[in-house]
Amino acid sequence: FFHSDQNKSLEGKTVLITAGPTYEAIDPVRFIGNHSSGKMGFSLAEEAAKRGAKVILISGPSAEKTTIHNIETHRVTSAKEMFEKVFQFYENVDIAIASAAVADYAPKEVAKEKIKKNDDNLTIELIKNPDILKTMGERKNRQFLVGFALETQNEEENAKGKLEKKNLDMIVLNSLRDEGAGFKNDTNKIKIFTKTEKTEFDLKSKDEVAKDIFDFIENQLLK
Ligand code: CTP
Ligand code: CA
Repeated sequence: FFHSDQNKSLEGKTVLITAGPTYEAIDPVRFIGNHSSGKMGFSLAEEAAKRGAKVILISGPSAEKTTIHNIETHRVTSAKEMFEKVFQFYENVDIAIASAAVADYAPKEVAKEKIKKNDDNLTIELIKNPDILKTMGERKNRQFLVGFALETQNEEENAKGKLEKKNLDMIVLNSLRDEGAGFKNDTNKIKIFTKTEKTEFDLKSKDEVAKDIFDFIENQLLK
Protein backbone atom coordinates (compact mmCIF):
# COMPACT_ATOMS: atom_id res chain seq x y z
CA PHE A 1 0.00 0.00 0.00
CA PHE A 2 1.27 3.43 -0.85
CA HIS A 3 -0.47 6.68 -0.07
CA SER A 4 1.01 9.94 -1.21
CA ASP A 5 -0.51 13.20 0.00
CA GLN A 6 -2.02 13.52 -3.46
CA ASN A 7 -4.00 10.32 -3.05
CA LYS A 8 -7.37 11.59 -1.84
CA SER A 9 -8.77 8.13 -1.34
CA LEU A 10 -11.32 9.27 1.28
CA GLU A 11 -12.58 12.25 -0.70
CA GLY A 12 -16.32 12.74 -0.14
CA LYS A 13 -16.34 10.68 3.05
CA THR A 14 -17.03 11.94 6.56
CA VAL A 15 -15.09 10.31 9.38
CA LEU A 16 -15.96 10.66 13.07
CA ILE A 17 -13.22 9.89 15.61
CA THR A 18 -13.35 9.86 19.40
CA ALA A 19 -10.03 10.44 21.17
CA GLY A 20 -8.34 10.91 24.51
CA PRO A 21 -9.44 10.18 28.05
CA THR A 22 -12.58 11.40 29.78
CA TYR A 23 -12.56 13.11 33.16
CA GLU A 24 -15.35 12.37 35.61
CA ALA A 25 -15.74 15.04 38.27
CA ILE A 26 -15.62 14.12 41.96
CA ASP A 27 -15.77 17.67 43.32
CA PRO A 28 -14.86 21.12 41.90
CA VAL A 29 -11.11 20.32 41.88
CA ARG A 30 -10.86 16.54 41.41
CA PHE A 31 -11.74 13.93 38.84
CA ILE A 32 -11.38 10.28 37.88
CA GLY A 33 -9.34 9.96 34.69
CA ASN A 34 -6.88 7.70 32.89
CA HIS A 35 -3.49 7.80 31.14
CA SER A 36 -4.75 8.10 27.56
CA SER A 37 -2.81 10.81 25.69
CA GLY A 38 -5.16 11.11 22.72
CA LYS A 39 -2.21 10.63 20.34
CA MET A 40 -3.71 7.66 18.49
CA GLY A 41 -6.97 9.51 17.84
CA PHE A 42 -5.21 12.65 16.63
CA SER A 43 -2.96 10.57 14.32
CA LEU A 44 -6.09 8.90 12.90
CA ALA A 45 -7.77 12.27 12.39
CA GLU A 46 -4.75 13.68 10.54
CA GLU A 47 -4.39 10.60 8.35
CA ALA A 48 -8.09 10.69 7.38
CA ALA A 49 -7.81 14.41 6.59
CA LYS A 50 -4.71 13.82 4.43
CA ARG A 51 -6.73 11.29 2.46
CA GLY A 52 -9.34 13.93 1.73
CA ALA A 53 -12.02 13.05 4.29
CA LYS A 54 -14.02 15.55 6.27
CA VAL A 55 -13.08 14.74 9.87
CA ILE A 56 -15.08 15.30 13.03
CA LEU A 57 -12.73 14.77 15.97
CA ILE A 58 -14.36 14.55 19.40
CA SER A 59 -11.66 14.64 22.03
CA GLY A 60 -11.58 14.40 25.79
CA PRO A 61 -8.93 16.37 27.73
CA SER A 62 -5.74 15.87 25.70
CA ALA A 63 -2.64 18.03 25.21
CA GLU A 64 -2.64 17.13 21.50
CA LYS A 65 -3.41 19.80 18.90
CA THR A 66 -3.93 19.77 15.20
CA THR A 67 -3.87 22.58 12.69
CA ILE A 68 -4.74 20.45 9.70
CA HIS A 69 -7.45 21.73 7.44
CA ASN A 70 -10.56 19.51 7.20
CA ILE A 71 -10.51 18.53 10.89
CA GLU A 72 -13.35 19.92 12.98
CA THR A 73 -12.30 19.43 16.61
CA HIS A 74 -14.81 19.34 19.47
CA ARG A 75 -13.45 19.27 23.01
CA VAL A 76 -15.42 17.53 25.74
CA THR A 77 -14.65 16.55 29.34
CA SER A 78 -16.83 13.70 30.58
CA ALA A 79 -18.16 10.51 28.99
CA LYS A 80 -21.68 11.92 29.04
CA GLU A 81 -20.54 15.04 27.16
CA MET A 82 -18.69 12.85 24.64
CA PHE A 83 -21.85 10.76 24.18
CA GLU A 84 -23.98 13.86 23.48
CA LYS A 85 -21.46 15.30 21.03
CA VAL A 86 -20.98 12.03 19.12
CA PHE A 87 -24.70 11.64 18.49
CA GLN A 88 -25.00 15.18 17.15
CA PHE A 89 -23.02 13.91 14.15
CA TYR A 90 -23.13 10.11 14.03
CA GLU A 91 -26.17 9.66 11.81
CA ASN A 92 -24.49 11.26 8.80
CA VAL A 93 -20.95 9.89 8.93
CA ASP A 94 -19.49 7.15 6.72
CA ILE A 95 -16.79 5.86 9.06
CA ALA A 96 -16.73 6.07 12.88
CA ILE A 97 -13.68 5.16 14.95
CA ALA A 98 -13.82 5.00 18.75
CA SER A 99 -10.26 5.44 20.00
CA ALA A 100 -11.19 7.29 23.19
CA ALA A 101 -10.42 5.75 26.57
CA VAL A 102 -13.85 6.45 28.01
CA ALA A 103 -14.16 6.15 31.79
CA ASP A 104 -16.43 3.20 32.53
CA TYR A 105 -17.82 4.76 35.73
CA ALA A 106 -18.51 8.25 37.04
CA PRO A 107 -19.24 9.46 40.59
CA LYS A 108 -22.96 9.24 41.32
CA GLU A 109 -22.90 12.73 42.78
CA VAL A 110 -20.46 15.57 42.25
CA ALA A 111 -19.73 17.29 45.56
CA LYS A 112 -20.61 20.99 45.37
CA GLU A 113 -17.66 21.95 47.56
CA LYS A 114 -14.13 20.57 47.72
CA ILE A 115 -14.22 17.41 49.84
CA LYS A 116 -12.39 17.91 53.16
CA LYS A 117 -10.22 15.13 54.63
CA ASN A 118 -12.26 14.54 57.76
CA ASP A 119 -12.67 10.77 58.05
CA ASP A 120 -10.06 8.02 57.72
CA ASN A 121 -12.12 6.33 55.02
CA LEU A 122 -13.82 7.89 52.06
CA THR A 123 -16.18 6.02 49.77
CA ILE A 124 -17.24 7.44 46.43
CA GLU A 125 -20.16 5.70 44.79
CA LEU A 126 -19.71 5.20 41.05
CA ILE A 127 -22.36 4.62 38.37
CA LYS A 128 -21.72 3.10 34.96
CA ASN A 129 -21.32 5.57 32.09
CA PRO A 130 -23.19 5.14 28.79
CA ASP A 131 -21.30 2.97 26.28
CA ILE A 132 -20.80 5.33 23.34
CA LEU A 133 -19.48 2.71 20.92
CA LYS A 134 -22.15 0.11 21.79
CA THR A 135 -24.82 2.75 21.15
CA MET A 136 -23.18 3.57 17.79
CA GLY A 137 -23.46 -0.15 16.96
CA GLU A 138 -27.15 -0.14 17.86
CA ARG A 139 -27.83 2.98 15.78
CA LYS A 140 -25.76 1.88 12.77
CA ASN A 141 -27.34 2.62 9.43
CA ARG A 142 -24.49 2.72 6.88
CA GLN A 143 -21.47 3.54 9.01
CA PHE A 144 -18.34 1.41 8.92
CA LEU A 145 -17.75 1.11 12.64
CA VAL A 146 -14.33 0.62 14.24
CA GLY A 147 -13.58 0.02 17.92
CA PHE A 148 -10.41 -0.27 19.96
CA ALA A 149 -9.70 -2.75 22.72
CA LEU A 150 -7.10 -2.61 25.41
CA GLU A 151 -6.77 -5.85 27.33
CA THR A 152 -4.39 -7.24 29.91
CA GLN A 153 -5.70 -10.83 29.74
CA ASN A 154 -7.44 -13.08 27.18
CA GLU A 155 -6.68 -10.30 24.70
CA GLU A 156 -7.91 -11.86 21.47
CA GLU A 157 -10.98 -13.52 22.94
CA ASN A 158 -12.06 -10.29 24.66
CA ALA A 159 -11.43 -8.19 21.54
CA LYS A 160 -13.50 -10.54 19.39
CA GLY A 161 -16.23 -10.51 22.05
CA LYS A 162 -16.39 -6.71 21.82
CA LEU A 163 -16.53 -6.85 18.01
CA GLU A 164 -19.63 -9.01 18.31
CA LYS A 165 -21.33 -7.35 21.28
CA LYS A 166 -20.96 -3.79 19.97
CA ASN A 167 -21.92 -4.68 16.38
CA LEU A 168 -18.56 -3.46 14.96
CA ASP A 169 -17.09 -3.99 11.51
CA MET A 170 -13.57 -4.17 12.90
CA ILE A 171 -11.68 -3.87 16.16
CA VAL A 172 -8.11 -2.78 16.78
CA LEU A 173 -6.44 -4.60 19.64
CA ASN A 174 -3.77 -2.55 21.33
CA SER A 175 -1.01 -4.46 23.00
CA LEU A 176 0.08 -3.16 26.39
CA ARG A 177 2.51 -6.00 26.92
CA ASP A 178 5.03 -5.02 24.32
CA GLU A 179 7.60 -2.48 25.41
CA GLY A 180 6.85 0.88 23.83
CA ALA A 181 3.23 0.14 23.00
CA GLY A 182 0.05 1.83 24.15
CA PHE A 183 -1.06 4.81 26.18
CA LYS A 184 1.60 7.50 26.68
CA ASN A 185 4.03 6.18 24.08
CA ASP A 186 4.39 7.41 20.52
CA THR A 187 4.34 3.84 19.25
CA ASN A 188 1.74 1.09 19.13
CA LYS A 189 1.57 -2.60 18.28
CA ILE A 190 -1.81 -3.64 16.98
CA LYS A 191 -3.84 -6.58 15.75
CA ILE A 192 -6.95 -6.02 13.65
CA PHE A 193 -9.94 -8.35 13.78
CA THR A 194 -12.97 -8.46 11.54
CA LYS A 195 -15.63 -11.15 11.82
CA THR A 196 -13.55 -13.37 9.56
CA GLU A 197 -9.95 -12.11 9.61
CA LYS A 198 -7.05 -11.50 11.97
CA THR A 199 -4.07 -9.36 10.92
CA GLU A 200 -0.98 -8.64 13.03
CA PHE A 201 1.19 -5.56 12.62
CA ASP A 202 4.69 -4.65 13.83
CA LEU A 203 5.49 -2.06 16.49
CA LYS A 204 5.42 1.35 14.78
CA SER A 205 4.80 5.04 15.34
CA LYS A 206 1.17 6.01 15.91
CA ASP A 207 1.25 7.92 12.60
CA GLU A 208 2.29 4.73 10.81
CA VAL A 209 -0.35 2.74 12.71
CA ALA A 210 -2.98 5.25 11.56
CA LYS A 211 -1.92 4.59 7.95
CA ASP A 212 -2.23 0.83 8.45
CA ILE A 213 -5.68 1.28 9.97
CA PHE A 214 -6.99 3.41 7.08
CA ASP A 215 -5.40 1.11 4.46
CA PHE A 216 -7.25 -1.73 6.15
CA ILE A 217 -10.55 0.18 6.33
CA GLU A 218 -10.37 1.22 2.68
CA ASN A 219 -9.72 -2.38 1.71
CA GLN A 220 -12.75 -3.54 3.70
CA LEU A 221 -14.93 -0.87 2.06
CA LEU A 222 -14.02 -2.28 -1.36
CA LYS A 223 -15.30 -5.73 -0.38
N1 CTP B 1 -16.10 2.72 24.64
C1 CTP B 1 -17.07 3.70 24.49
N2 CTP B 1 -17.81 4.11 25.58
C2 CTP B 1 -17.62 3.57 26.79
C3 CTP B 1 -16.62 2.57 26.96
C4 CTP B 1 -15.89 2.17 25.87
O1 CTP B 1 -17.24 4.21 23.37
N3 CTP B 1 -18.35 3.98 27.82
C5 CTP B 1 -15.34 2.26 23.47
C6 CTP B 1 -13.87 2.59 23.48
O2 CTP B 1 -13.64 3.84 22.84
C7 CTP B 1 -13.27 1.43 22.69
C8 CTP B 1 -14.21 0.28 22.96
O3 CTP B 1 -15.43 0.86 23.44
O4 CTP B 1 -13.32 1.68 21.29
C9 CTP B 1 -13.71 -0.73 23.94
O5 CTP B 1 -13.36 -0.10 25.14
P1 CTP B 1 -12.84 -0.99 26.34
O6 CTP B 1 -12.60 -0.13 27.53
O7 CTP B 1 -11.72 -1.86 25.83
O8 CTP B 1 -14.08 -1.98 26.59
P2 CTP B 1 -15.35 -1.89 27.51
O9 CTP B 1 -16.53 -2.19 26.64
O10 CTP B 1 -15.40 -0.60 28.27
O11 CTP B 1 -15.18 -3.11 28.50
P3 CTP B 1 -14.07 -3.33 29.66
O12 CTP B 1 -13.45 -2.00 30.00
O13 CTP B 1 -14.83 -3.94 30.78
O14 CTP B 1 -13.06 -4.30 29.07
CA1 CA C 1 -13.64 0.22 29.51
